[in-house]
Amino acid sequence: MKRFYIETFGCQMNAHDSEKVIGTLVGRGYEQVATPEAAELIMYNTCSIRDKAEQKVFARLQEFKRHHAGKTFAVLGCVAQQEGEKIFEKAPHVSMVVGSASYNRLPELLVQIERGDKRVTGLSLDTEDTFETPLTRRDNPHKAYITIIEGCDKSCAYCVVPFTRGPERSRTLESVLREARELVQMGYTEIQLLGQNVNSFRDPAIPGSELGHDFAYLLRRIGEVPGLRRVRFTTSHPRDFVKDIVDAIDENPVLCNHIHLPVQSGSTAVLSRMQRLYTRDDYLRRLQWMHSAKREIAITSDLIVGFPGETEAEFAETMSLLDHGRYESMYIFKYSRRPNTPALQYEDHITEEEKTRRFLLLQEKQRAMQIRQNAELLNRVEEVLVEGWNLATNQWIGKTSQNRTLNFLHPQGREANLLGQYAQARVTRTGPSSMGGEAA
Ligand code: 5AD
Ligand code: SF4
Repeated sequence: MKRFYIETFGCQMNAHDSEKVIGTLVGRGYEQVATPEAAELIMYNTCSIRDKAEQKVFARLQEFKRHHAGKTFAVLGCVAQQEGEKIFEKAPHVSMVVGSASYNRLPELLVQIERGDKRVTGLSLDTEDTFETPLTRRDNPHKAYITIIEGCDKSCAYCVVPFTRGPERSRTLESVLREARELVQMGYTEIQLLGQNVNSFRDPAIPGSELGHDFAYLLRRIGEVPGLRRVRFTTSHPRDFVKDIVDAIDENPVLCNHIHLPVQSGSTAVLSRMQRLYTRDDYLRRLQWMHSAKREIAITSDLIVGFPGETEAEFAETMSLLDHGRYESMYIFKYSRRPNTPALQYEDHITEEEKTRRFLLLQEKQRAMQIRQNAELLNRVEEVLVEGWNLATNQWIGKTSQNRTLNFLHPQGREANLLGQYAQARVTRTGPSSMGGEAA
């Protein structure tokens, strides 16, 4: 059993976990294959953020069973942690269930599987460890992820993450910097720092947390790594988002001028029921910091509609928040009840139709704003990192520092060989979510 196939759902944290899992397996002599047909071990890294994501998992596990009977199946990630040994009952063909807080036990668990054990679990959340691997298989040739903090100590009333990813654990600044330098040596110029709440990073190597060895300090230090051109980060929590982060971005163009700052609701009353630990006004102040920065910062966010008890007036406050945010883009979700979460105490009385109505109202308003805002970008020259070539339109696919997609024509077309390069492009066409242009 030496060939494995892995399939990944969920957030960037999961995507990067899979890269580290692949590194760990390859380091033990396993070979990664591109299809489940070619594999003896099938791994499935799962997400449980909303009910739909979780439903998918069991449907997919049944499919695997139908087509690949007799192989070894492993369930990783958030559904693994949440459902634990219940997965063996619902899907008896699964032999291994491992949550992300136990990935550093993978080598040992693999030995048990190789020995022929039929039920192997790694489900402890009681950990201070982070998942460090000597080897990480990076999927994207242009952008590399670096985890800086794992887990989450907040208790947002709707959210499973504190139950699926365990307590907050920061890596040391030194190991993060070492990884960044190694990535530059490997040829990467863009890195993305990852964590459920990067803003609460504190260097565990420095005793006492008030010494300034916080997230803004880390950003400044990473921004100085020679050879790095772009540093991004996700995700931020407004409670721990301090103005010093905006100042750090203002000081150093290597730090990308894009911030994802999930707001969830524009109503203080809803935020309080959500246990978000900030008010509408606190959030507006953070918008103000970003809007008055010297560099133009693109802001994106997440919203939940239909949280229990959300009245029409409370929803109207979320609608009006969009005017203040002037968001680059917005991810909108319908509230979904999750196991273990504090919000289970409330009845989920808002109907699916009503959630959909609110969802569409927000979506339509945001889309209209994006069309208007993006039209102002016409004729601008932007620096883009070229990430691909679009065969259908004969355009290079570029990303700006603000994380906007700018597809552009080049006089030499594909011959220009721009992949992985930085190029200047003038915006000649704008739409709600991407822009078109030509090499400048
Ligand atoms: N229902 C709906 N959306 C949710 N999110 C997190 N938990 C839930 C839930 N139970 C959304 C939040 C979060 C994003 C990643 O997913 O907006 O920021
Ligand atoms: Fe899904 Fe959250 Fe787990 Fe990421 S951390 S995979 S979004 S449940």
